[in-house]
Amino acid sequence: MRAYDRNLTRPAVECAAVIVFRTDDREVHPPHRFADYRSTRLRAPLARPIAWPHSPSESTGPNFARRPPATREADLTAQHAGAPLGERITVAGQLRDEDGLPLAGQLVEIWQANSAGRYAHPVDQHAAPLDPNFSGVGRCLTDADGRYRFVTIKPGAYPWQNHANAWRPAHIHFSVFGPAFATRLVTQMYFPGDPLLELDPIFHAVPEAARERLIAAFDFASTTPDWALGYRFDVVLRGRDATPGGPP
Ligand SMILES: [Fe+2]
Repeated sequence: MRAYDRNLTRPAVECAAVIVFRTDDREVHPPHRFADYRSTRLRAPLARPIAWPHSPSESTGPNFARRPPATREADLTAQHAGAPLGERITVAGQLRDEDGLPLAGQLVEIWQANSAGRYAHPVDQHAAPLDPNFSGVGRCLTDADGRYRFVTIKPGAYPWQNHANAWRPAHIHFSVFGPAFATRLVTQMYFPGDPLLELDPIFHAVPEAARERLIAAFDFASTTPDWALGYRFDVVLRGRDATPGGPP
């Protein structure tokens, strides 16, 4: 399917085919309002959302493979003159659809704090050092088997204002488009064994049965010897096995 520009002479965006999605993932995602996550009390809708049939504006999406990200965008440790401080890691996984099939050529974006727990963003005024060699932003497309891979550094925990002495567990934000706007997922990946997970309202807003899906697996087999530890984080878009979204 193609969306046309005003002249109706050439496609402005080439879209994927119209896809019909099931709706069996409603118990996977966090609610709009989760009392312990303070800001959701203010921004959650007061009325129950209205179910609406998908139209082509949801069941199609942009084709990012036409203008793929540069290879260097997947290596967050090589975007500046020097190497960033911190523990170098790789984060890799497979992107699958609601039927368990790999999704090739899909855009995966990540953003994260540096190893001291600070984002390279003016809104972040946490009293931790910025790293001139780390922007904390990466992009890549999945390969023919639906696989992606980033090189980065392990993010640090940081305090936030949700409640007294609140700290976010180390996490990497993910945005995955998938083949249609209805498959887009924005979520957070956590690290195994983090003691802050048990104290984190954003993590606990996710239904318990699906919560573990947000924790990456330490994957020694993917470790790069003498160079970087490896983590695996598979992502499933929609369906009963879907990766939960978050924060709500
Ligand atoms: Fe964050």
